[in-house]
Amino acid sequence: MQGNRPSRSEAPIGVFDSGVGGLTVVREIMRQIPDERIVYFGDTARVPYGSKSKDTIIRYSRQIIRFLRQQDVKAIVVACNTASAQALDEIEKEIEIPIIGVVKPGAKVAAEVTRNGKIGVIGTEGTVGSRIYSRYIKELNPSAEVLGKACPLFVPLVEEGLLHDPVTDEIAMRYLSSLIDSGIDTLVLGCTHYPLIRSTVGKVMGDGVTLVNPAYETARELREMLVRENLQNTVKPELGSNQYQFFVSDAADKFIRFANSIIKYGILSAKIINIEEY
Ligand code: DGL
Repeated sequence: MQGNRPSRSEAPIGVFDSGVGGLTVVREIMRQIPDERIVYFGDTARVPYGSKSKDTIIRYSRQIIRFLRQQDVKAIVVACNTASAQALDEIEKEIEIPIIGVVKPGAKVAAEVTRNGKIGVIGTEGTVGSRIYSRYIKELNPSAEVLGKACPLFVPLVEEGLLHDPVTDEIAMRYLSSLIDSGIDTLVLGCTHYPLIRSTVGKVMGDGVTLVNPAYETARELREMLVRENLQNTVKPELGSNQYQFFVSDAADKFIRFANSIIKYGILSAKIINIEEY
């Protein structure tokens, strides 16, 4: 203990995303490491990140990290694929607490599970354009062939709740047909929203294609990292102890509605902060 502050291992994990999508990562952390506290920030005022420049995403990420550091987090998870792709290399040099993104854990599993060495990656324009999944996959599996495909309409379809809908089926067919033709056997769901349309993507790609969910792999990696760094929380948070706290930069009601549709733990509130002040 340092003064009255809880020990580092009892401090929360900071998780951030451009908006609601990062809740797919939060959901996995809640499932896999249920004793951890979480402070989540969703940048709902400035979403989407997927079509923005690298410089802008680095600036946004720095502001969010300053906010999370003020909440005294012990580690940070960049839940957004675009921010992991565009900003993590830069921001990880600037902070001394552990920070992980979603790209490396997803790339690692894709490199391991492919049988024919042909891997597809779907994500935002920013993530696919950065070719970062390809870089990490090839570091582990140099002969792998990585094919990227940006699927920008998937994000609004998910946010409109069209998870099982003929419109989403049709768009998925159009986006994914070139990946089917290329004979990939593994497909990375390289955007926060895509695990929510996993069944549609799986149906279109067929049984022979293994889907990799970076949200799941990131929670696994986080658990291992906390053990390695001796940071795992061994004190079970009491009920009503604000184990999970949510902050957004705009439209808290919409955020709460979406959050409650995907996470079974009732998210009662989300506080709006002015992220431009950080
Ligand atoms: N969270 C973003 C990602 O995972 C998707 C939404 C956006 O474009 O900001 O890439």
